[in-house]
Amino acid sequence: MHHLSTDICHYLYSLADEQNGNNVSLELNGVSTLIVQNREDAEYVLRRNYENYEKNMAWFKQALGTSRFFENGQIWKLHKNLTQPFLNRFDDQQTVKLSIHHAQQGVAQLIDDSCAGQPTLDDGIFRKMAMAVFIENFFQVSLEESGINIDNIAELMEFSSEFSFIPAGILNTQHRRRLVKLRALRRQVNADLKIFRDPERINPLLARILNAEAEPGSQVVLEEELMAFLAAGSESTAATMSWVCYLLANHPEQQERLYQEVMMHPHPTNWQQLSQMPGLMTFISEALRLYPPIPIIIRQAIGADKIGNDAISARQNIIISFIGIMRNKNVYPNPAELNLRDEDYSPLNDKESGIGISFSHGPRICGGKDFALVELAGFVHTFLKQASFTLTSDLPPRFYWKSQMINQGGQPVRVTPRLD
Ligand code: HEM
Repeated sequence: MHHLSTDICHYLYSLADEQNGNNVSLELNGVSTLIVQNREDAEYVLRRNYENYEKNMAWFKQALGTSRFFENGQIWKLHKNLTQPFLNRFDDQQTVKLSIHHAQQGVAQLIDDSCAGQPTLDDGIFRKMAMAVFIENFFQVSLEESGINIDNIAELMEFSSEFSFIPAGILNTQHRRRLVKLRALRRQVNADLKIFRDPERINPLLARILNAEAEPGSQVVLEEELMAFLAAGSESTAATMSWVCYLLANHPEQQERLYQEVMMHPHPTNWQQLSQMPGLMTFISEALRLYPPIPIIIRQAIGADKIGNDAISARQNIIISFIGIMRNKNVYPNPAELNLRDEDYSPLNDKESGIGISFSHGPRICGGKDFALVELAGFVHTFLKQASFTLTSDLPPRFYWKSQMINQGGQPVRVTPRLD
């Protein structure tokens, strides 16, 4: 019997070692659960037979309201259509410009903190960078103007992840107390989002959501839609950036090679230029493979089924472990190592790469994958150009799960300016 908690990632890394590539059946919090550790079976759950595997986020939904993140079926499609058209056609030049600008501010802050003797990186800096780019890109408002408190949104996500594994109907007193707090936090975040109802701020994306909200019998609520959108759009990118810094610090020689690469193309202005730096893109992909910011996704079987050799019963939980999948030795010869490839390799065309897997697959694939990649490339390019990253501790990471996977206490990295 295993207890799930914020500690699940350590368990998944050890499972990836001990049961490499194999699915594992066990009881988690009293619920029969299958942990999927290979890509074929994940693909079956997420794409080929996805109709039988629903998101099971009853408590999340009760706490956070309705949005495309938590719903299934027709209701999900309706919510998805509110925002997806905008995620599909963003202006990559604008995103690159914003990413470079906010990465410059973020890296300057990291350097200041290191100079002041801080031995770990403040995750809040990465969250601020990601949120600033996201809000300015999709709402033409700066983070400061918006009045959004990013710590509240992060706390909301952390709170909600506690409820991810709790099956409907089973809730103890402690959970009930947390749920009350979660609702209070949500009211606070709702109030923070007031600016998006200001008629002077309304843009086509907001107008689309407000129109849907105004329809009779509608289940759309602007704040609920935005909350999930903002959290999805910034938390995972922020976690990725923290792991990128850790990985750079862990591999000084690769860091130098990447520095040379970016200095050959020092002023990228669009996605095409960034995506044609093979070292940069492979490094980002490897950070996503070794430290997937969303390490698991959870589904519930609607009807009985079979996954690989395992019989699945109705209502059984399925955990897709991206950690397990991307450490499968049949696919990756040295799965725990950083694997950089030759010049003609592109992780963008490889469905087994970190980029190919960590954004999920099938109909519920990450809605912001393309945006996230442009943003990450702009961030990492700027970081490499402006700073060096060195480890301040050799201790292994302390993985902590709060919807995203982070290194508890911050990454043990020192950031110093490049003198060019
Ligand atoms: C490195 C960064 C990111 C990673 C690794 C990532 C990964 C994921 C994953 C694995 C899911 C599926 C969750 C599940 O099925 O339970 C997801 C969903 C989603 N992501 Fe991302 N994401 C990232 C950044 C972003 C960004 C920047 C945005 C918005 C601009 C975004 C928007 C979304 C949305 C809207 C969904 C829900 C899709 C749906 O079911 O309708 N993500 N993401």
